[in-house]
Amino acid sequence: MRSNEDHTEGTIGCETAVEAINVRKTYGSGAAKTAAVAGITARFAKGQFTAIVGPSGSGKTTLLHLLAGLDTPTSGRVIIDGVDISTLSDDAISDLRRDRIGFIFQDFNLLPYLTAEQNIELPFTLRGRQPDRQTIRGIARELDIENRLDHKPQEMSGGQRQRVAVARALAGNPAVVFADEPTGALDVKSSRQLLAILRDMASRRGQTIVMVTHDPNAAAYADRALVVRDGLIAADIEHPTAADVTSTLEHDADSPLPLAGGVAAGDGGWSNIASRKEGTR
Ligand SMILES: Nc1ncnc2c1ncn2[C@@H]1O[C@H](COP(=O)(O)OP(=O)(O)OP(=O)(O)O)[C@@H](O)[C@H]1O
Ligand SMILES: [Mg+2]
Repeated sequence: MRSNEDHTEGTIGCETAVEAINVRKTYGSGAAKTAAVAGITARFAKGQFTAIVGPSGSGKTTLLHLLAGLDTPTSGRVIIDGVDISTLSDDAISDLRRDRIGFIFQDFNLLPYLTAEQNIELPFTLRGRQPDRQTIRGIARELDIENRLDHKPQEMSGGQRQRVAVARALAGNPAVVFADEPTGALDVKSSRQLLAILRDMASRRGQTIVMVTHDPNAAAYADRALVVRDGLIAADIEHPTAADVTSTLEHDADSPLPLAGGVAAGDGGWSNIASRKEGTR
């Protein structure tokens, strides 16, 4: 399935956490105009763990930022937890992000001068609310960082830091957790542990998760893999295995599917920026 077709199968009858409707994001102007996201329609069901995979430069981070209200689309609409964010003021979008969305970044994004516990409590502190200590302790126990709560980030391993970031993302009971390459800075063992935690959060708590990754093995933990290429959805795989994702990526690389406008990159589009120019599609 290609481009801006409706990627909703498997979600019919399910409640929707996030929806993108013909979302585009273009950068630059004139001949240099590039569509980082070239018209994507996709629905993310509540409780579903989705991996967004694709080659470098394919538009994964841009799409994630649009879905999370961190960035504004050039055209199209994003609906988060039933709210069309194009109708909101910047302040209202900030509030929605703060109250309904959890983020996990590749480099953890912890505040170095706060302890693990204070970092986890941030979503509450920023809202001027009392942190729910019992919930936070419970999450910390599940993530095996309970005995690290008084430590500052530099006193923890990378895996522990990332689990603090996961605890922070979950503590506010968000509608959606967005993660951009959350295993990017971790070794294989810590990566697997983190992915198993995310898998568990979706299965047991019904936490909606949208995770960007370039790693087919990481994508295999998800319920669904959206393969992005040249700013479009190249494939939508239910219950992906690492082999499914790898072969989809390789298929694209070896024999590119015809793009609108007939552009087929010599390298299969894996790093092709030229084919992303507006005039060619
Ligand atoms: N602020 C920007 N200004 C201009 N072009 C941008 C900007 N942000 C992203 N792009 C371009 O948009 C395209 C998609 O970028 P994006 O960061 O979404 O890719 P990605 O799939 O996340 O890649 P990676 O796997 O390397 O992180 C790239 O060609 C990138 O150069
Ligand atoms: Mg990226």
